[in-house]
Amino acid sequence: MSEKSILPSRFLFYLITVSMFLLILSSVFLFQFSTTSFIPRSVFKLIVLNSTSVYFKPNVKSEQIKIPFLSSDDSQIETISPIRSGAADCQSSNSSKEMVGAFEQQERKNCGPTQAILRVYMYDLPPEFHFGLLGWNGNANQTWPDVSKPSQIPPYPGGLNLQHSIEYWLTLDLLSSHKANMCRPCTAIRVKNSSHADISFVPFFSSLSYNRHSKLRGKEKISVNKMLQKKLVEFIMGQDEWKHLDGQDHLIVAHHPNSMLDARRKLGSAMFVLADFGRYPVEIANLEKDIIAPYMHVVTTIPSDESAPFDKRPTLVYFQGAIYRKDHSNLESGGVIRQELYYILKDEKDVHFTFGSIRGNGIKSAGQGMASSKFCLNIAGDTPSSNRLFDAIASHCIPVIISDEIELPYEDVLDYSEFCIMVHSSDAVKKGYLLNLLRGIKLDQWTKMWRRLKEIVKHFEYQYPSQPGDAVDMIWEAISRKVSSIRLKKHRRIRYHRSQLLVNSN
Ligand SMILES: *[C@@H]1O[C@H](CO)[C@@H](O)[C@H](O)[C@H]1NC(C)=O
Ligand SMILES: *[C@@H]1O[C@H](CO)[C@@H](O)[C@H](O)[C@H]1NC(C)=O
Ligand SMILES: *[C@@H]1O[C@H](CO)[C@@H](O)[C@H](O)[C@H]1NC(C)=O
Ligand SMILES: *[C@@H]1O[C@H](CO)[C@@H](O)[C@H](O)[C@H]1NC(C)=O
Repeated sequence: MSEKSILPSRFLFYLITVSMFLLILSSVFLFQFSTTSFIPRSVFKLIVLNSTSVYFKPNVKSEQIKIPFLSSDDSQIETISPIRSGAADCQSSNSSKEMVGAFEQQERKNCGPTQAILRVYMYDLPPEFHFGLLGWNGNANQTWPDVSKPSQIPPYPGGLNLQHSIEYWLTLDLLSSHKANMCRPCTAIRVKNSSHADISFVPFFSSLSYNRHSKLRGKEKISVNKMLQKKLVEFIMGQDEWKHLDGQDHLIVAHHPNSMLDARRKLGSAMFVLADFGRYPVEIANLEKDIIAPYMHVVTTIPSDESAPFDKRPTLVYFQGAIYRKDHSNLESGGVIRQELYYILKDEKDVHFTFGSIRGNGIKSAGQGMASSKFCLNIAGDTPSSNRLFDAIASHCIPVIISDEIELPYEDVLDYSEFCIMVHSSDAVKKGYLLNLLRGIKLDQWTKMWRRLKEIVKHFEYQYPSQPGDAVDMIWEAISRKVSSIRLKKHRRIRYHRSQLLVNSN
């Protein structure tokens, strides 16, 4: 009797001890997560958006985290090699204050085609298509500048040109991707053999070509911009790489809404990197195949610890932008909405609403204006997007987006409602609607959005060398998320091909 009862109770004792242990262990886990937030979505964000996360540092390598979440392509998981060799210290840009910790340094050291999440073949187009447009000419046989020496990298023209300089940053990042001493995220890597690539990159500086070379000069019959597009179409469409998938695995940057105007239809099967779809028919550009990239902001980013909180921002709403003539616009278009909002808001004393595009000194005063405003308006103009949104983000001024057709960068991983107010145009022009809405947002709610804004601002920074989570890195990741759908098209296209070959060889 006694023996019988002892055994189960001893067993019970062990069972309870073990389960207590497990309970404590699991609550420790939960507690660690809940220091940020408890819901799974924010856990996901912690992983996706914050590769510096302390929690994951000790035992999980960042690519291993990144890949399952950011790339839906399972086949890439097995190609990840966790092995890292100790290489020499790498260069890094000074501009990233917080990111380059010891962990990041380590991660950078060994980056090859198997470690990167995106393998990119880049055409060696002659310099006239890229750095030549910046006045660079290398030696006779030199296609690319030496990017390991920052002093030899031709600078991109400043001012408003910069807002579309995405082509430049992506190209520089690829050129530096196989430099051993470069501190950059191992997201995209350039491969020399196109059959090893996920995507083929066309390094044409199309926005610069439009901005700087659209006008006829001297005896020219056709502008440099048109001539380059014509040559590009002839060259690209003649390549085997293009023919084999009808260009669907090609990447073309056309960030200025008027860039690639002549070539966009012929090269329309490619993946474009764009500012918005405003001037594109849907069969040429759409969210399914293309990537929306942020404008490069023109105002200076406010350092996080210098950002003015709620009560240090005297202006409620800030807007500065161009006005469009009424005859250009139908009732839906931005011009009319800007004008109506002007009449609604102009007499409010805590509202700054002026027309005129910002240039030169104006950029500085616009930056100061935004940095001392609680909310910054982004009203659709002649295109759904503008650099104003990204200037607002850099100023930590909560963006209020009134643009029904706008598409936002990396919206599949970023929830803009956490740091932006979105208002339908039809609501915005109702009397009192906008001001009631904005005045109703109190300190707590505003501060929550402002904090989030300070966290995500790094995703909108273009820089060289690229840093984890910056705009270049985010764009490559967004592209890598499209690769599996390209691969699907590719496999569907060749599904009968191999079988046919089998039959023929019999
Ligand atoms: C990332 O994690 C670090 C350390 O936990 C934290 O200081 C930082 O605010 C986080 N950033 C984001 C974007 O979550
Ligand atoms: C980077 O920092 C070093 C030393 O801190 C400084 O000498 C150098 O000028 C900086 N480079 C840039 C591009 O700011
Ligand atoms: C350029 O390349 C050609 C053929 O590859 C070679 O014969 C020539 O010497 C090179 N010229 C220079 C300046 O490197
Ligand atoms: C590129 O890779 C393919 C497949 O691995 C190979 O057959 C081909 O010879 C390579 N081309 C060059 C130029 O190395």
